Amino acid sequence: MTKYVGAIDQGTTSSRFIVFDKAGNIVSVAQKEHKQIYPKPGWVEHDPLEILHNTNEVIGAALARADLSASDLVSVGITNQRETTLIWDKATGKPLHNALVWQDTRVDQLCAEYAKNGGQDRFRAKTGLPLASYFSGLKLRWLLENVEGARAKAEAGEALFGTIDSWLAWNLTGGAKGGVHITDVTNASRTQLMNLASCDWDEDMLNEFKIPRACLPKILPSSTVYGEITTPTLRGAKLAGILGDQQAALVGQTCFSPGEAKNTYGTGCFMLMNTGTEPVQSKAGLLTTLAYQFDGEKPRYALEGAIAITGALVQWLRDNMKLFDVAPQIEPLAKSVEDNGDVYIVPAFSGLYAPYWKESARGVIAGLTRFATRAHLARAALESTAYQTRDVVEAMETDSGIKLSSLKTDGGMVANELLMQFQADILDVPVIRPKVTETTALGAAYAAGLATGYWSNVEDLRANWQVDKQWTPALAADKRAHYYKSWKKAVQRSFDWVD
Ligand SMILES: Nc1ncnc2c1ncn2[C@@H]1O[C@H](COP(=O)(O)OP(=O)(O)OP(=O)(O)O)[C@@H](O)[C@H]1O
Ligand SMILES: [Mg+2]
Repeated sequence: MTKYVGAIDQGTTSSRFIVFDKAGNIVSVAQKEHKQIYPKPGWVEHDPLEILHNTNEVIGAALARADLSASDLVSVGITNQRETTLIWDKATGKPLHNALVWQDTRVDQLCAEYAKNGGQDRFRAKTGLPLASYFSGLKLRWLLENVEGARAKAEAGEALFGTIDSWLAWNLTGGAKGGVHITDVTNASRTQLMNLASCDWDEDMLNEFKIPRACLPKILPSSTVYGEITTPTLRGAKLAGILGDQQAALVGQTCFSPGEAKNTYGTGCFMLMNTGTEPVQSKAGLLTTLAYQFDGEKPRYALEGAIAITGALVQWLRDNMKLFDVAPQIEPLAKSVEDNGDVYIVPAFSGLYAPYWKESARGVIAGLTRFATRAHLARAALESTAYQTRDVVEAMETDSGIKLSSLKTDGGMVANELLMQFQADILDVPVIRPKVTETTALGAAYAAGLATGYWSNVEDLRANWQVDKQWTPALAADKRAHYYKSWKKAVQRSFDWVD
């Protein structure tokens, strides 16, 4: 009987369950969006129970669509929106508060306080990360301090902290009746509480951020058998892979050698370069992070350029500005004008991440004249994704000393051909889209399949990777230089908005 591997992809905007075959092809998929909750400017929350409910629903739907059941799956992996933070009651499984989403900026003042003494990079050597509202550790601190009774429960081990991977793994393996409380090295590396070298919780960071160890999950490799799933639709299947979504995409793109990189275009954009078994400290504004750890092997590290808002800007134009009804409509709209009409959008909605790390930046639209139309805004939105990616690529080249010869892409936005062409134009290197662009889910499936012998080694996985399409640069050098210079000016305009 043919066997498959399943992947739960719990993202910022939606939850997916995808069944893959041995060639890495999609056999079945189901997807459901969840609510984005914005209680105040800069605050973003998710309802963890809605996420859990949707996850179970898409698992059932994808299996039913292909007439499969849990016994057809060798194993199941989880990949997740990273840094999103929650805390729940161990006895009842009830969240104590909504999850604080990675984009949430409510701890920016706290970051500034810490930075006063030692600067924004004071924890980089240990954790690979600058002080920023992005990461989970200070979000957890906020929950412990602002939710009644949370700290006492956490100290007593009666409340559990988790990123979304931990929340799902605990619920899938029994919940209050013996669920495993775990996370993997990649997710743990985004808390700013994990020591990069030891891959364990760092005592000094816990003290510094006032986090009780009793509420923290156990840190395990990204590919290993964690336990058996007990929920109805997956009963008996092995949970055997966990990777943060961007690291999962790196694995899905089979970037297993040092120097190999990918850029994923989703809600935000995240470029990761594999740097092998040694963490490389960044001088150019990138993050040092865990790439993955397969069972019985040394952890692998990556340099990462994280951009908060790319596809989310497309959503904002759709939902808040009502420029179009569905995301793909941005492409014909943008194509209806020949260039950006000198309009630039800097989507610093959550401040600016890599390579700037400006908590106090906010979004700007620059270069407006009466000539500008909604089509120019659409074009500027797509272009901002490409410029932000160039900012990150330049930082990556500085830090790694490796000149990019092409860019492997994936994620929802790579369906946009105008964007792909402009990306090649503005980087002046070819842009390559693989056949399977659901690399995030694929990476989680690979982790789960490697742990259970479905695939024997990374060469099996490399053999699955195929090119779908390639775009070559076609923009004159003077235009490229002019566009990028204007972009850099617009970026300056976004700085220091919040006092
Ligand atoms: N044709 C398109 N052109 C431009 N943007 C698009 C297009 N199709 C989808 N998008 C954008 O891509 C994003 C969805 O991509 P994807 O599903 O990879 O996102 P994601 O970050 O993985 O989402 P999640 O965070 O939920 O996992 C959305 O922000 C959407 O606005
Ligand atoms: Mg995703």
